[in-house]
Amino acid sequence: MTSTSSCSQGLAPRTDTDAWWRDAVIYQIYPRSFADANGDGIGDIQGIREHVDHLAALGVDAVWISPFYPSPQVDAGYDVSDYFSLAPEYGTLAELDALIADLHEVGIRVVIDLVPNHSSDQHEWFRAALEAGPGSPERDRYIFRHSADGAPNNWGSLFGGPAWQPVEPLTGRSQDQDWYYLHLFAAEQPDFNWSNEDVHEHFRTFLRFWVERGIDGFRVDVAHGLVKAEGLPDDDLGPDRWNVVAAEGEDAASARDKLPDVGPAFNQPGVHDIYREWRSVLDEVGTDILLVAEAWVPTEADAALYVRADEMSQAFNFPFLTAGWDADRLRRVIDVSLSEYGAVGAPATWVLSNHDVVRHASRLAYPADMDTDPGIGPKDPQPDAELGLARARAATLFMLGLPGSAYLYQGEELGLPEHTTMEDEARQDPLWERTNHLIPGRDGCRVPLPWTRDGASYGYNATGRTWLPQPEGWGEYSPQAQEGCEDSTLTLYRRAIALRRELRLGRGAVEWLDSEPGVLHLCNGTTGIVLNTTEQPVVIEGAGQPLITSWHRSGADAVDAAGVVVPPNGACWLDASAGGTDGGDPR
Ligand code: GLC
Ligand code: CA
Repeated sequence: MTSTSSCSQGLAPRTDTDAWWRDAVIYQIYPRSFADANGDGIGDIQGIREHVDHLAALGVDAVWISPFYPSPQVDAGYDVSDYFSLAPEYGTLAELDALIADLHEVGIRVVIDLVPNHSSDQHEWFRAALEAGPGSPERDRYIFRHSADGAPNNWGSLFGGPAWQPVEPLTGRSQDQDWYYLHLFAAEQPDFNWSNEDVHEHFRTFLRFWVERGIDGFRVDVAHGLVKAEGLPDDDLGPDRWNVVAAEGEDAASARDKLPDVGPAFNQPGVHDIYREWRSVLDEVGTDILLVAEAWVPTEADAALYVRADEMSQAFNFPFLTAGWDADRLRRVIDVSLSEYGAVGAPATWVLSNHDVVRHASRLAYPADMDTDPGIGPKDPQPDAELGLARARAATLFMLGLPGSAYLYQGEELGLPEHTTMEDEARQDPLWERTNHLIPGRDGCRVPLPWTRDGASYGYNATGRTWLPQPEGWGEYSPQAQEGCEDSTLTLYRRAIALRRELRLGRGAVEWLDSEPGVLHLCNGTTGIVLNTTEQPVVIEGAGQPLITSWHRSGADAVDAAGVVVPPNGACWLDASAGGTDGGDPR
């Protein structure tokens, strides 16, 4: 559908067929919540440095660090006021250099966040724009419009309310009367005007600057939003596009699937020219630098357009994340992803959690018709923690068995659930205020990590101060509590990541085997990968001892006379090479 650009349709030869990111496991660090070295309640770079051994033991190939730039923190750092520096509360550039060196030393690559759709309203360019007045070159770097009869169009902000902020109340100057600026997110996040050459130059400089500091890749925030439809036409769905309500009996994902497109503010064909420009900059300054798109676009085919040979490297697979605990949906997403990304020569990616969604150890405990997007509050139905954890472990093990690259979110290796009972007063996500407390928001997945069983903040820092409250019992999820325990989620993640590398699963392919309804069974090379989403055990005939299982094995034997018994909500990997099984029917 968005194939009007003149350049490649994926036919240009790829030069990145051996790139490190093709089968990488990439771990997202949310710096505010990872670890706090100086005890002010806010995670910092030094805190990450103190836990590099945790990352090395986990065996990840790279980390992606969410924004650490100077920022008023209206949207947890996704409101950047200076793209070439660090927020003082996170540390100094010298500390960041040291962290990059520490990570490289243990073979972990470093990916950082690139926020090109909008800056903070405190960015010097935006302050200058307000100061300079209508029609000035300063204002042309953002999207200012004059409109005498209310907002220039009917677009809604993704965080609730209108997407236009009147200028006059901010400057108090009469010449600004009837002027507005566009913000797809919070009002403190004005959208850049990507028709302006200064904006292009700024981000080319950004890429060079950070690659020279040793950065190995960039996660591109709101990658589908930079270019808006010509003339900024009204959205035919109006401002409520972002709050699609499921009909009775319909699940939220199906309701969203029915949206015909993402409207005039997103996924415009012209956006691809920007990524071609970035690709050529990166090819000049480095080799195999990763560009990964955060693009919430309707289909896998749309997402694949972002990863054609001369654009980005890969895109997050959100249809996989939203497929839920549904074998048919998962299988469809896997097939379509492999074929759409394969057609442009890009690897598929897989993801179950990030800083914007309910953690999968809680999300997967809910029935498909419960909309958890985004956030769960104390008044909502509460998840069954045990069921959620069993499914999360299974989903992750299944995901790590797929070819391509996998993204993990800090804390999922501990089996951390969502904080679903956070008091309203503690909430910080702008979604909460901007939706008049309708949507709890994303704070529940952003809670500071536990590192130790006890202590005021369970080892997050030494003072007990935390920017978001931790729930009780958080220490039981800490690495300290899980270290050396056969059945712990941390042990499962470490083993699965190591085995995935050893078996080269990230470079493999998917071949489906017959299975019962609700069960997925595939071969990736000589490894069988099984997921049981049903409430009944299933027997995989002819298989010997599993290589790894998501369920607790203490004392129990997974193999009976007929084959491997996969319990409800379980997943495992099997050795399917000749000799690795009994060669078919054991009887
Ligand atoms: C992306 C980020 C999200 C942020 C938004 C606006 O979706 O992942 O956290 O709020 O962009 O920058
Ligand atoms: Ca700190």
